[in-house]
Amino acid sequence: MVTKIEKIEGKKADEKVIRAAGEILKNGGLVAFPTETVYGLGANALDEKAARKTYQAKGRPSDNPLIVHIARMEDLPAIVKKIPKKAAAAAEKFWPGPLTMIFEKSGIVPYGTTGGLDTVAVRMPDSETARRLILAGGGYISAPSANLSGRPSPTSAEHVREDLDGKIDMILDGGPVEIGVESTILDMTVDPPMILRPGAVTKDMLEPLIGPVSVDRTLIQPDSAAAPKAPGMKYRHYAPRANLQIIDGERKQTIAVINRLAEEKIKAGFLVGIIATEESVGRYECGNIKCVGSREDERTIAAGLYRILREFDEDGVDYIYSESFSEDGIGMAVMNRLLKAAGHQVIKAES
Ligand code: TXA
Ligand code: MG
Repeated sequence: MVTKIEKIEGKKADEKVIRAAGEILKNGGLVAFPTETVYGLGANALDEKAARKTYQAKGRPSDNPLIVHIARMEDLPAIVKKIPKKAAAAAEKFWPGPLTMIFEKSGIVPYGTTGGLDTVAVRMPDSETARRLILAGGGYISAPSANLSGRPSPTSAEHVREDLDGKIDMILDGGPVEIGVESTILDMTVDPPMILRPGAVTKDMLEPLIGPVSVDRTLIQPDSAAAPKAPGMKYRHYAPRANLQIIDGERKQTIAVINRLAEEKIKAGFLVGIIATEESVGRYECGNIKCVGSREDERTIAAGLYRILREFDEDGVDYIYSESFSEDGIGMAVMNRLLKAAGHQVIKAES
């Protein structure tokens, strides 16, 4: 299959492209599109066959459910059994935006889309291109991140092309995304509601609105006895090809440990990547050093993380050493993804 790539300028001129992409979706095809979090791989969420194609293109296990994307609040009731009051309040404030909520599903949502579950994850993305495409495609578009299963989520159309060229019908290129990590997933079928995946909408932002929110404890602390509640969180996602380790400690000690480890590995003939920040990048002495963002603003680190992991894959490094980041705000999402990419390998930098 030839994958068509169409640039989106965000103007009226794109109307024809959006309409053509919508037709592909209505006919059971696959279209990758930008959202504010990461690029999604769109398909008709109410068509079991389209869901199967999605799993096939990504190489994703079919017990890992998809998120149904909608563009208007009035489209929600048809796909869920009921809308809890707290969910309505959260939607009012955070939709459109980087929040996914889990509901009990209605009969029209096929089990092929929900991975066999009686619940359905729903999100209304903020990206205008995304919402226009959803409407053009019939209103209910399932969209996992548009990467091959096991690779970092795509934050640009180029990343999607690397993974899915020749496997899907079209890629809408809307440039780099804004946020860079996937949406927060909030389970509204339990009380108190529970965060199953941290993202840009945090517990602190939700609680003033809907009261106490719990957090799936397997997200940051690995706990072999407990399976994560979101099926997808159990897979070793976001895995770079290199062995990634996180070095945690005071800034000075961290840099010293990374310099020492990098030197050892380079002497032994390996290629080494280092994930640094604007504040530390000048203090590394060897290796392939990349600056992910600034500690002054966790959002810049979220925006750069997946791109850097992909760059290291391309550079063919054998080891990656990363600094550890603050868990404030979107930092919890950053550390959750980084820990997963590292298979939870953390080295303490002692003074
Ligand atoms: O930001 C995002 O959410 C992006 C963009 C494209 O919207 N999408 C995304 O989809 O990250 P995906 O498929 O890569 O991740 C969906 C996650 C998986 O971990 C899956 O297990 C979980 O959501 N999930 C989906 N439906 C669920 C359900 N009914 N119950 C529990 N977890 C669910
Ligand atoms: Mg994904």
